[in-house]
Amino acid sequence: MTDEQTPGFADQVEEPSGAGTLSDGVEAPPSDEGVAEAESVREAMGVLGIRPSSDEVAEGAASATPVFSARQLARARDVLARLHALRRARQLYPSGHPAVSQAAADFLREAERYHEEGVDLPLVFFEDQVLLGEQVLLEESVLFDQLVRDLTAIGAGSIILKRGTTLEEVLVLADVIAQDPSAIAAQGGVAEIVRQRSVEHVDIRAVAVRRESPAAAGRANARAVYTDALDLIREIDRILRNNRVIDAKHVRGVVRSLVASVLENRFAMLELASLKRFDEYTFYHSVNVAILSIALGSSVSNDARFLSTLGTGALLHDIGKMMVPLEVLNKTTPLTTEEWAIIRHHPIYGAENIMLTPGLDKAAAIMVLEHHLRYDLAGYPALRGVSRQHISSRIVAVADAYDAMTSRRAYSAARRRDEAVAVLARNAGSALDPDLVRLFVAMLGLYPPGSVVRLNTGEIAVVVAPPASEAQLPRVRIVADESGAVVDGFEVDLSDSAEAMGRVIEQCVDLDDSSLVARRILEEG
Ligand SMILES: [Fe+2]
Repeated sequence: MTDEQTPGFADQVEEPSGAGTLSDGVEAPPSDEGVAEAESVREAMGVLGIRPSSDEVAEGAASATPVFSARQLARARDVLARLHALRRARQLYPSGHPAVSQAAADFLREAERYHEEGVDLPLVFFEDQVLLGEQVLLEESVLFDQLVRDLTAIGAGSIILKRGTTLEEVLVLADVIAQDPSAIAAQGGVAEIVRQRSVEHVDIRAVAVRRESPAAAGRANARAVYTDALDLIREIDRILRNNRVIDAKHVRGVVRSLVASVLENRFAMLELASLKRFDEYTFYHSVNVAILSIALGSSVSNDARFLSTLGTGALLHDIGKMMVPLEVLNKTTPLTTEEWAIIRHHPIYGAENIMLTPGLDKAAAIMVLEHHLRYDLAGYPALRGVSRQHISSRIVAVADAYDAMTSRRAYSAARRRDEAVAVLARNAGSALDPDLVRLFVAMLGLYPPGSVVRLNTGEIAVVVAPPASEAQLPRVRIVADESGAVVDGFEVDLSDSAEAMGRVIEQCVDLDDSSLVARRILEEG
């Protein structure tokens, strides 16, 4: 079996060349002891009733400031339902009608529940999403999509009900949001209307989003989240190598940020997921697999709990390697059978650790245990009675294989991104779930973010966002001119003919890591 046929089993373990056939994933079945341990972990999960997509998850959907509790976030659905009802009532009836007054009172009652807890109620409507403060409400964004679109259309990007809001002020709010966009525009916009009606405790305004350079701002935020996740993984390595206990709260915070960033800032995060460092492969790999898994998972379901658990499992999928002695992990000479057995034990070590760590999302253990199992179950560890990999494990396996292939390893060069996508496709149905591979390839496009490409002009560019429609026309950042001289990276949307000015991608290129252009790309992230 060639390496190309077995991408995932390109096991991310630093396999010295010729040292073994770990990449086959099928030879040398693990010892009975390994099976028994693996099964005891699964059993423990079963006793706890754990399934990754539905049970224990981080409390709260996001951690931005101000931080609303899980209960407060859950109540936002009632708030939005009342707001929707109020808007409809005011559209149907004149001001002063009992139906409007009733709807206003109902809405105010929901808002007052927040006020009684000492916080204002900030609702934000932005790009098809609704947020409570800075925390995205995923399900509500879908449930109330029409309300979100309507409020955005009239320029009501945010509605803040401050403590002390009165029924009269809510009635003014109803008067404003019941109007159509042209009527609002004719009066100078929502902010102007509110100013004239002098409502003290209700603030309606267009969200102040800096549109001058959204890409740059997005990249800066994404990079901060990426760096935090990287620091966490480095810390976990230190902790596990010193037999200490992982800080579950820290993990939850990082996973929340990763999920929120991938959902809000998908392209910047996907581009960052192409970052590699040869000497810190495992750390970068863990973060990249988390980002790619969350992104792929979000095309299966946008359920916040599902994505949170998926992110946790993906981020921690290889922590078992941190319990493998460094002299085995970093060995440059061929490994003995016993040493291979230790390395192949890493899914079990990792899953056990998660099960034993207080406060960690136990459902994540299943991905850690199953990430080398393969779609056809020919991988490891052998798990008796398991008829298929869990969906979350299959997602992590695709992300794991892709990132491993596109990374330089001790025993192999990094593949170009377009080549890696082709290898995934060839392994769909055997090693990897074919449906997930299809979604993954669709998500990344023909030239995945992070690909370095040569344009027909001779310029070198980095793909920063997959194309909206035409597979060959993504958004790119040009980093070198036709003479190879590094230029100030400027972005061009190749699908926009006015912007592209005839530029098209000629081919993906390999860059020497030491080249000026490559260094520039790394610097810009
Ligand atoms: Fe692994």
